Amino acid sequence: MQTARVVLDRDFRIGEIDPRLYGSFVEHLGRCVYGGIFEPGHPVADEMGFRQDVLDLVRELGVPFVRYPGGNFVSGYDWRDGVGPVEERPRRLDLAWMSTETNAVGTNEFAAWAARAGAEVNLAVNLGTAGIDEARALVEYCNHPGGTYWSDLRHSHGVPEPHGIRTWCLGNEMDALWQLGHKTADEYGRLACQTAIAMTWVDPAIELVACGSSHARMPTFPRWEASVLDHVYEYVDYLSLHTYARNLDDDLGTFLAQSLAMDAQIETVAATCDFVKAKKRSRKRMMLAFDEWNVWHHTRDADKALLREAPWRVAPPLCEEPYTLEDALVVGCMVISLLKHADRVKIACLAQLVNAIAPISTRTGGGAWRQTTFFPFLHASRYGRGAALDVQVSSPCYADSEFDAVPLLEATATYDEEREALTIFAVNRGQEDALRLEGDIRAFPGYKVVERLVLRHENPKAVNTLARPAEVAPHGGDAGCQDGALTATLPRLSWNVIRLGGAPAHATERTHGRAEHPH
Ligand code: AHR
Repeated sequence: MQTARVVLDRDFRIGEIDPRLYGSFVEHLGRCVYGGIFEPGHPVADEMGFRQDVLDLVRELGVPFVRYPGGNFVSGYDWRDGVGPVEERPRRLDLAWMSTETNAVGTNEFAAWAARAGAEVNLAVNLGTAGIDEARALVEYCNHPGGTYWSDLRHSHGVPEPHGIRTWCLGNEMDALWQLGHKTADEYGRLACQTAIAMTWVDPAIELVACGSSHARMPTFPRWEASVLDHVYEYVDYLSLHTYARNLDDDLGTFLAQSLAMDAQIETVAATCDFVKAKKRSRKRMMLAFDEWNVWHHTRDADKALLREAPWRVAPPLCEEPYTLEDALVVGCMVISLLKHADRVKIACLAQLVNAIAPISTRTGGGAWRQTTFFPFLHASRYGRGAALDVQVSSPCYADSEFDAVPLLEATATYDEEREALTIFAVNRGQEDALRLEGDIRAFPGYKVVERLVLRHENPKAVNTLARPAEVAPHGGDAGCQDGALTATLPRLSWNVIRLGGAPAHATERTHGRAEHPH
């Protein structure tokens, strides 16, 4: 068995973890909204039509922040279609997803759903087919208390209290040809700047996210970022990043290494922001919003065929990825990548939340279940709080078609000083063998293992289904800690969580935890 080492110190910190790092995304796409969060007539729907089983899973996942309503959808969306009496709302062609949008759910319904889910709403405005006027009207509709046209319209729709939406996205993936109303960097930069000014004049408390590139393989990456920031640097708070890991050639070693590309993407975008900062002699440090990230590769071809054969359906079953253990490991590596950059990435949204590229799946009229990818996200959102530590990792490596040295061990740690909670998150990328983990935690005297969680399966292609919802589920594992030396065995192809605690509150500690944890 090969060995990898980690050294942890409470004083070596990357930065505080913003809770919004565990955000997600609900788009009017496929069955994410209709048949996902909203299904009037379902046996467990509440009086507004929201599925309680889905809400329970969303609360369990611990999602504090949800981006809405798109995505590609927002670039053709008129938000006014989605407010007011439901029976008067128009049915529209959604050109982004070749679907029919009924508008039964709009801004007010989504805000009500998010309040029930315990999440803050992050709204995106349409900068594809719309512009400054629609955006400033939406801020006024949502955030102004009353006494003006748009705020009074909200009152007349039965919503007297302003939604108080803090974070807004200035469009979506405007660099991409697939985006309705896509633009050059200068066209977008100018429009984003003017829209940002108007929106902030309506509500100076809001924060704004400008569009970065759709992914790091775009030919204009990262020139797009530099040009857009030339226009908007002083007017926005975040620049967005998007990525979807793929395994198109069924090459697991390369697939598992996709988080290295994510590391490089974050570092390139941060460097580009700092270049513009230097050019502008600015005092402001641009923060990053990784507001779409996930694994997405199973359904792309099937979806194209489905839309060709039956376009313009309401809520067609698009992007319903059956996530495997392999996919969950990549999601785990991607969460670790976000934590390793917690000083710079303040917002991140797992795209998406229900049914479409999602950790939660539903059967229309039936049950809901947790996909494999639910678990690494859940563990990180539940335990990855406080400060992200700068962990020193030494690991055996392998080479793949993109990277010369991919570490078998991907790992990071978080430290919640107040709760005396230290958590190590680790993936063993090894396809054949377990990996012995040795940790130096002398900087945490008296800390013991309080819980050990492992996600693995004999078959890396295993998935969860409604019939077998716990086929891939976390269980306990071995970990020990003595005199500042931590040891654990990380099974081949596994996601691992080692929770350590130092305070009396953790008196139930087990030095050789075999915790049977439901999740
Ligand atoms: O999340 C699915 C889609 O991926 C989004 O609509 C778009 O922004 C991205 O291309």
